[in-house]
Amino acid sequence: MGTQFLSALLYVSAAIFVIGMGCRIYFWVCAPVPLKIVLTPAPKHIPGVIRRLTEEVFGFRALAKADRSLWIPAWLFHFSLVLLFLGHLGGLVIPHLAQTALGLNENQFEGMAQVVGGAVGLLAFVMLFWLLIRRLILPRVRWISTFSDYFAPVLLLLILATGNAMRFMGGLNIAQAQSFIAGWLALHPVAPPSDPVFTAHILLVCVLLIYIPFSKLVHIGGVGALSPTLNQRNNPREHRYVNSWNKANENSPTSS
Ligand code: HEM
Repeated sequence: MGTQFLSALLYVSAAIFVIGMGCRIYFWVCAPVPLKIVLTPAPKHIPGVIRRLTEEVFGFRALAKADRSLWIPAWLFHFSLVLLFLGHLGGLVIPHLAQTALGLNENQFEGMAQVVGGAVGLLAFVMLFWLLIRRLILPRVRWISTFSDYFAPVLLLLILATGNAMRFMGGLNIAQAQSFIAGWLALHPVAPPSDPVFTAHILLVCVLLIYIPFSKLVHIGGVGALSPTLNQRNNPREHRYVNSWNKANENSPTSS
């Protein structure tokens, strides 16, 4: 596939992702919260809210309490995605900086990427595959599942599978992949590696980038931290809660 096409598609997808996420987050942040709707038991003070959000975002605390058998694969899957992001950043975007920071020579760095990247890629695939199977075999979960509940995991599984294929089957010219990414980031696109698996990986990532802002995957934008059920303080007895719609009327003589 031509240099221009793959690079251009990646620019368009990235633009849709950034603008789409920006709009979604803007509307979330600006949405009025007319009621105190914090889920109790909840902290009364800001340090407690920060602790609650940290535990929720990094540890999926509510899910851990509700369903341990779902929490384990869900947490491991999300954790492995974070590691994959860091791996792509270190291995493909800033390889020299990452290698120096870790104090490794080129061979050691390659070896570490092979072992850690391979293990994390497999972990992500197995955990997500299990989450999809669980959705299919539990009747009550299958009952509430819609098309998007299958589309998102299948798309992610395909991205993980093509990534793992490049990692385990070899054959990819990694230096060419790195210069493709560097050229793309510098707005001077160069030819991608002529590897059909790499092309498939990138095309699937483009679909993912376009899909995220319009789907439930938008939660990567911080829905946990932005949710008033989690980020409010449980202090309606100590402080009167003023509906954001009423703030303008608060000081007017007619306000009740
Ligand atoms: C534009 C974005 C992306 C680019 C340019 C990219 C590129 C690559 C390349 C070149 C490899 C092979 C690395 C090697 O064999 O040394 C790879 C591996 C992999 N990719 Fe991606 N990828 C992208 C996004 C993603 C996303 C969003 C996911 C997951 C949702 C993903 C999952 C994987 C996995 C699991 C591997 C194998 C394990 C590893 O090497 O880290 N990639 N990717």
